Amino acid sequence: MSDPSSVQAVTLRTLRDYKRSGRPIVSLTAYDASFAARLDEAGVDVVLVGDSLGMVVQGHATTLPVRMDDMVYHTAAVARGCRRALLMADLPFLSYADPARAITNAGRLMAEGGAAMVKLEGGRAQAEVVSALAGQGIPVCAHLGLRPQSVHKAGGFRVQGREHGARQQMLADAVALEEAGADMLLVECVPADLGAEITRSVSVPVIGIGAGPDCDGQILVLYDVLGITPGRIPRFAREFMTGAGTVPAAIAAYAAAVRERRFPGPEHQFS
Ligand code: KIV
Repeated sequence: MSDPSSVQAVTLRTLRDYKRSGRPIVSLTAYDASFAARLDEAGVDVVLVGDSLGMVVQGHATTLPVRMDDMVYHTAAVARGCRRALLMADLPFLSYADPARAITNAGRLMAEGGAAMVKLEGGRAQAEVVSALAGQGIPVCAHLGLRPQSVHKAGGFRVQGREHGARQQMLADAVALEEAGADMLLVECVPADLGAEITRSVSVPVIGIGAGPDCDGQILVLYDVLGITPGRIPRFAREFMTGAGTVPAAIAAYAAAVRERRFPGPEHQFS
């Protein structure tokens, strides 16, 4: 029997090494202990307890109704399933509206939930919050591009950064967030060449979702991968259940496709 203490846990240092060496980072969302354990066994490097749980678990139309208590509850459940993967958890809508609130709520995700990193949405407007969290030793991932918590401001779930001005602003945001202390960036739903340029412009790892094949890693919502999301899945996602037969095989197929750079394909990218 293998010794559980012998598992080499993924850390920020591991992810930085992966970026340097060009090994793609594999990431998926999870919301409970059983799925988290399957992801961990498949070698998923970063497990995100996303506030997408508001849509795929709770059945809301957006992520806005998700509460801090929901995030702490699901993060603690996922933590019980993870041994190797780095556990990242979302700060929900308005839970990081000022630095003091952000520190309190990120502290809950880490101390009560067991997260090793928190994620928040926003560009350079969040630099002060990112810097406050970094100052408390809290690892932060900043989410750029399509930001689901700003869906009403953006006028829907749509590709971001297509116009020259928006593109330049996103590049400047990425650099400003790294300077403020962000340890990782997540870029959602942008043209593939912008995903690649952001990835080249910062030294921290960049995980993409609908951001092309040249990011340092890829993430998808687990329920899209398993084909159980109600309705149509986004164009950038791919269902891996068909042909795989079992949930562990589908997760393994996704992990292999990311690692071997077979996913995302041209049909999952935007220009
Ligand atoms: O909440 C979430 O699941 C996310 C992914 C879309 C990356 O942020």
